[in-house]
Amino acid sequence: MKKNIYFDNAATTPMDKEVIEVIAKTMESTFGNPSSTHQFGRAAKAKIEQARKEIAKLLGVDSSEIIFTSGGSEADNLILINAVKNLGINRIISSKIEHHAVLHTLDFLEKEYKTEIVYLNIDKHGEIDYLQLAELLQEDKKTLVSLMYVNNELGNLLDIKKVSDLCITNNALFHSDTVQAIGHFRLNLQETPIDFITASAHKFHGPKGTGFAYIKKGFGIQPLLLGGAQEKGARAGTENVPSIVGMAFALKKMLANLKQEQEYILGLKKYLIEQLKKHIKGAEFNGLSVNLDKSSYVITNVLFPNEKPMLLFQLDLKGIAVSGGSACQSGSNKGSHVLNEILSPSDLQKPAVRFSFSKYNTKNEIDEVINILQQLVL
Ligand SMILES: Cc1ncc(COP(=O)(O)O)c(C=O)c1O
Repeated sequence: MKKNIYFDNAATTPMDKEVIEVIAKTMESTFGNPSSTHQFGRAAKAKIEQARKEIAKLLGVDSSEIIFTSGGSEADNLILINAVKNLGINRIISSKIEHHAVLHTLDFLEKEYKTEIVYLNIDKHGEIDYLQLAELLQEDKKTLVSLMYVNNELGNLLDIKKVSDLCITNNALFHSDTVQAIGHFRLNLQETPIDFITASAHKFHGPKGTGFAYIKKGFGIQPLLLGGAQEKGARAGTENVPSIVGMAFALKKMLANLKQEQEYILGLKKYLIEQLKKHIKGAEFNGLSVNLDKSSYVITNVLFPNEKPMLLFQLDLKGIAVSGGSACQSGSNKGSHVLNEILSPSDLQKPAVRFSFSKYNTKNEIDEVINILQQLVL
């Protein structure tokens, strides 16, 4: 019988039912345009300002520092392009295993603005070279460091405190794509200062097409989208009020239950690793997947031993949703720019699978997947 198992929560998460209810209620009760000055508009405006306050409080920042966007990609674009166009940044230090929302923006900046882009060395586990970063930061250049907190393909965690300290000491700006971290890790920007971060609601059981940029006070932002003066002039376009309200609710709920959820999902990850080691001879783990202190509890990236073609496709036929890299690349390893950076040519021939869990997954599902993998791989 075909299964119905979803292990691709780094691509997107199913929406939480309570979040759906909150969104539906907001749609019913608050249809006004937040820019209208009459009571309907004011009611809608009040809802988004309340959401902004709640999100800001959870991050330990001021609500004026949160800009709502259509998601993580837009927020990354907004921050990076502004850094170069308006903040005098002429060098960006990053890595080749960032999300394309960052990498393609860096290509654009290099081409259009002649920004110097430096990619840090990474080792075979996908760890960046912190010493090289420290050395580069000693050069006297107007620099922004852009490094993601949780790698969306490998699950690797950045030593975000270390990078924050290095940037402060050396007067560099720090942007972190925290799309895979927000809602899954507690991040207080008072304790770990970062100048710019990004988030996307659909990664934490919220709605798609909604996210935010945190932009530290004092950094004026010019809009990418021109038009109305929404978001204090940083982004034109009538705000998606229900989704913004839903995002704030989703984030609050995630963080309220964080400890239990982390423990539960980490339990699933440990179980998957144990079962793979036991039943799939030759299975290896990509990145820092098995180094639990340095890897997100959500993501496990596995390299399977044979050259079985189209393993992802075979799994899909059996009703199991996983991916090989980020969502837009599922289907082949070769398409994964991240694995291309860290795997040897022979390992790149082997099928890699990213398993990413949520609170809705169970050990039973893992057992079923292991069973199917045994048939497909051995
Ligand atoms: C690390 C990372 N950054 C950015 C994005 C893009 O976010 P969005 O889908 O909200 O544009 C994603 C989504 O896959 C991601 O994983």
